[in-house]
Amino acid sequence: MTQTSPRLRKAVLPVAGLGTRVLPGTKTTPKELLNVVDRPILSYIVEEARAAGIEHIVFVTGRFKQAIEDYFDHQVELEAQLEAKGKTEILDQLLAELPKPGEMSFVRQMAPKGLGHAVWCARDVVGDEPFAVILPDVIVDAEPGALKQLVAVFNETGGNVIGVERVAESETHKYGIVDPEGDSSGRRIAMKGMVEKPAQGTAPSNLSISGRYILQPRLFDLLADQGKGAGGEIQLTDAMARLMTEQDFTAVEYEGVTHDCGDKIGLLRANVALALKRPDLGEAARKAVSDLL
Ligand code: UTP
Repeated sequence: MTQTSPRLRKAVLPVAGLGTRVLPGTKTTPKELLNVVDRPILSYIVEEARAAGIEHIVFVTGRFKQAIEDYFDHQVELEAQLEAKGKTEILDQLLAELPKPGEMSFVRQMAPKGLGHAVWCARDVVGDEPFAVILPDVIVDAEPGALKQLVAVFNETGGNVIGVERVAESETHKYGIVDPEGDSSGRRIAMKGMVEKPAQGTAPSNLSISGRYILQPRLFDLLADQGKGAGGEIQLTDAMARLMTEQDFTAVEYEGVTHDCGDKIGLLRANVALALKRPDLGEAARKAVSDLL
């Protein structure tokens, strides 16, 4: 069932959700622009996409998410001020992450009907080629980046490739979980199914689907008539489970540390972990944390 696939060039970043788990911070600021240390979460995500060879990023945005589009554009007054004050290091950092002309597209999801619906909104911009989906509130601290690790597998297997991490058995009910085909001890695992948030004690494995996907465009046909699933939302997992009856899916346990920044403690943990690793801040961060403890 292996599908021959053209090169992966495009990534869909769904950013239209309401971010209710981290309110009130997300009342007027998109969740994806909350800072981790000194950069928005999205800045880490775009860096990961580019490092994986992605040439075009499709944001699926919604109302009150205008700031995301503005973040990836010039801020002329600010740039002039930084230039005038000789603050060239930060100015260069800001300019370096601006998109090349045409590198980013923005489509609108007019109501947050679920992740599957958000991805479907990108169908015309993606067209008939494989594409990545990156959950833009999940930072994976990894070298090489998580998506790049998935691309390495995809270039060999084609088909569909899903990033996973192992979680404690007691935690499986919180995640989408992979149903493996045979041996699941390695880092590359053939899949025969997936279950969204299985009841405790019923999970087919401890491999949780953590927010990095490479998918075939056939998925868009299935999303077009995908009904509502868990939580009354159109779920990406449900459409992927249908696609699995037609095409190969490989789960890849990437090497790295996953931070769910859409959750209060996950966001806090990401800030601490990434500050501790920073050459310019690590020592001061370590002292601040140990003073607190
Ligand atoms: P989440 O479920 O984590 O985001 O979806 P959310 O709905 O914003 O969060 P809570 O549960 O209310 O706190 C993962 C990603 O998918 C996007 C979100 O913006 C988030 O980055 N998403 C989700 C959409 O773009 N549209 C949707 O309808 C749902």
